[in-house]
Amino acid sequence: MREPGTEILSVGSAEQMQVLGRAIAAAVDATDGTFIVALEGELGAGKTTLVGGILRSYGVTGPVRSPTYTLIEPYETAGRSIYHLDLYRLNDPDEVEPLGVRDLLTGSALLLIEWPSRAAGSIPAADLWIDIAYPGAGTEGREVRLTPHSLNGASVVRHIVAAIPELRLLSS
Ligand SMILES: Nc1ncnc2c1ncn2[C@@H]1O[C@H](COP(=O)(O)OP(=O)(O)OP(=O)(O)O)[C@@H](O)[C@H]1O
Ligand SMILES: [Mg+2]
Repeated sequence: MREPGTEILSVGSAEQMQVLGRAIAAAVDATDGTFIVALEGELGAGKTTLVGGILRSYGVTGPVRSPTYTLIEPYETAGRSIYHLDLYRLNDPDEVEPLGVRDLLTGSALLLIEWPSRAAGSIPAADLWIDIAYPGAGTEGREVRLTPHSLNGASVVRHIVAAIPELRLLSS
């Protein structure tokens, strides 16, 4: 069962993941206000690679690493404030409280949250949910499921597939 507006993309390489990241950034730029992206997928799925692609679009240079120990890495870019969170090491959803995530949601802040399920109920709802999966033995690349959870999220998914239709695998 897929929610309406869900799209599944076939992303063949880490380079294509960067292309998808750029498409996500351009799509988010076509919306107003804050935007939250949730990134799920097992260890090594490609979450940080995708975040890197988004950050490069905003002029961030150098390697992008998951803030596994600090939990949050802020980026002040020309376009907007971006916060990259990696909640893998959270032991309890309550541990996210000191980060003050809700207070970050001003202006056109963009939150990119790896492992949001670790903080279930303690972080604001995402506009766009991204699940990255290995397609199975013998197949290269990753399957990336985009599920919108708000009107802005639905608009972003439509923009993404319009920008990179060649990656489209399935839609509902
Ligand atoms: N679409 C893709 N196809 C093939 N390889 C990919 C793809 N996307 C990313 N990779 C590769 O997968 C590896 C892991 O990527 P990455 O560190 O982004 O994963 P992650 O989901 O953030 O992992 P973690 O859960 O440990 O933080 C990297 O070597 C990256 O180059
Ligand atoms: Mg990561």
